[in-house]
Amino acid sequence: MEKLYTNETQAIFWNNNASAIQRMLDYDYTINRKTPSVAAIVAPTAESKFQKFFWGPDEIMINLYKNTAAAKKAYPNADVLLNFASFRTAYDVTIEALELGGFSSIMVTAEGIPERLARVMNQAARDKNVTVIGPATVGAIAPGGFKIANIGGTIENIIQSKLHRCGSCGLVTRSGGLFNELSNIISINADGIAEGVAIGGDRFVGSVFIDNMLRMEKNPDVKYMVLLGEVGGTEEYKVIEAVKNGLIKKPIIAWCIGTIAKHFSTGVQFGHAGASANADAETAVYKNQAMADAGFYVPTSFNELPNKIAEVYGKLKAEGIIGEIAEPTLRNVPKVRRSKEFICTISDDRGDEATYAGFPISSVATPDTGKGIGDVISLLWFKKQYPKWATEFIETVIKTVADHGPAVSGAHNAKVTARAGKSVVESLVTGLLTIGPRFGGAIDGAAEHFKYANDNNLTPAEFLNHMKKLGIPIPGIGHRIKSLRNPDLRVVGLKKFAAEHFPATPLLDYALTVEQLTTSKKDNLILNVDGTIGILMVDMWRALGYSEEEINEFISSGTLNAFFIAGRTIGFIGHVLDEKRLAMPMYRHPMDDILYQVDMAEEIE
Ligand code: ACO
Ligand code: LMR
Repeated sequence: MEKLYTNETQAIFWNNNASAIQRMLDYDYTINRKTPSVAAIVAPTAESKFQKFFWGPDEIMINLYKNTAAAKKAYPNADVLLNFASFRTAYDVTIEALELGGFSSIMVTAEGIPERLARVMNQAARDKNVTVIGPATVGAIAPGGFKIANIGGTIENIIQSKLHRCGSCGLVTRSGGLFNELSNIISINADGIAEGVAIGGDRFVGSVFIDNMLRMEKNPDVKYMVLLGEVGGTEEYKVIEAVKNGLIKKPIIAWCIGTIAKHFSTGVQFGHAGASANADAETAVYKNQAMADAGFYVPTSFNELPNKIAEVYGKLKAEGIIGEIAEPTLRNVPKVRRSKEFICTISDDRGDEATYAGFPISSVATPDTGKGIGDVISLLWFKKQYPKWATEFIETVIKTVADHGPAVSGAHNAKVTARAGKSVVESLVTGLLTIGPRFGGAIDGAAEHFKYANDNNLTPAEFLNHMKKLGIPIPGIGHRIKSLRNPDLRVVGLKKFAAEHFPATPLLDYALTVEQLTTSKKDNLILNVDGTIGILMVDMWRALGYSEEEINEFISSGTLNAFFIAGRTIGFIGHVLDEKRLAMPMYRHPMDDILYQVDMAEEIE
């Protein structure tokens, strides 16, 4: 890997740390990134499916997932995991991501992961060639490309420290606080940084100085490096070795903080878990000397570091190794932003022509487009372009259920309402409100129960028993007038279509075995039109590659009944218009068709 991140890098953010994510997005917007740097969020306990964030003056939705696997499946190109789990969970999250694969780097922010676990985690990452930044870190940044969470501070601070675009320095520190301080110093004394990593303050961190500096050596944007080490540990010696072996040739300016430690008579533990010297070689003074001996640019004190940076930068500039850096035009993140009340993900009317799931209406409306109502439904209901066999099936369903005569529950209600003088819409709605579990609205129920039975390998007899226990008639079975002797030709037509065009119909095949049993009891207990539609829709979605979870969600949200609602609307309107055309008077039900049995009300004392 030549560069840790680019302006196309996308991350999966583990934990819905909204303010840190917003900071990343504000950075992205400011530096003109095309895509948000956070592709998805893992929020195991979240109820909602997305979270809104600001993108400049607008808002965007970032999807929430229950686990890393689901987020990674949805965003396979997001190859950075920002692990913001607590110290109790961070280890498991990292190990799971390593096992999943597909991540080039994992940043672990938690402080206090047990050292034993940190070592296992770091080794596991190393074995898989995955760069771990942290634990106990604010992260890393590739200015002008990708920034992790809060590194660099506020947008104002970021611009002031020239972290909004690529500079020439490769910066590595342990501490996040000093990282920000050094970025500022580098911006004042040089042209900013090209890549910066705060490796973290724990004794056992994933990638150490040498890992990051070897990568920076290969990164053509990095012209020199600044290494800010600290008392404790021996990681700086690996860098010295690499310089001696010629693996690192770019100039390095280095300083180890903690030189004050020599003034204490006993060992001192500085702020970080790793910041205490257990041997002479681990002292800051010793390390500074060793680095100077190896040809690093080592100042005489931390206060002298800015001058050293200015000196090396000036030299590289004079030699033509560093050129001028063009300042990009930045976008301003508005100070006041208003969150939107409504969200729409299916259509957009803001341009010259409204679109259905991205398709201008004219591209689907007229016959020359080759698109039909099935295509429009697949775009507006499912936000997908279904293949021809599936859109034709949808159209077949709509046409099949458009009407079933004036006597059915809903048409009758619509007619009575129209005859009471109500409008088309009022009469239509009355008809629609009749659609329910017994009439036309058994499609979702049929899909749900037959799918359950089939998923759980219930025999038809076991299924019937199961439904008996639930105390409800099997949705999709039975008809008032249709039977084995008087078959429902709509069902025959739908089954014929499926046999000719569906890749497979496993749920229908199962349902037909159930029908054999129910019709053996009573010949009108056939698989009815609702049942056939519900079951074939499941077969269609399975063939289209939807997951079981997605199909279950379609069912529970009432999607299947919607096909009957859409189709039968055509028929109900026909009946209402028929009433109007015939100028039919108000309807009163014949009294001789009503059984009156009205007793005198008893008095309650
Ligand atoms: N599952 C199990 N047993 C049933 C079912 C069923 N779906 N439907 C009827 N039965 C049984 C009844 O329990 C009853 O048994 P019994 O004689 O031992 O008492 C017998 O069959 C007759 O019951 P009815 O309710 O009188 O049957 P009817 O023919 O009047 O009902 C109806 C038709 C309402 C469609 C019914 O079959 C039913 O509720 N089915 C489930 C709902 C459904 O699929 N509706 C959509 C129909 S298609 C459409 O509307 C577009
Ligand atoms: C319908 O399509 O409305 C029906 O199958 C119901 C019925 O009673 O005919």
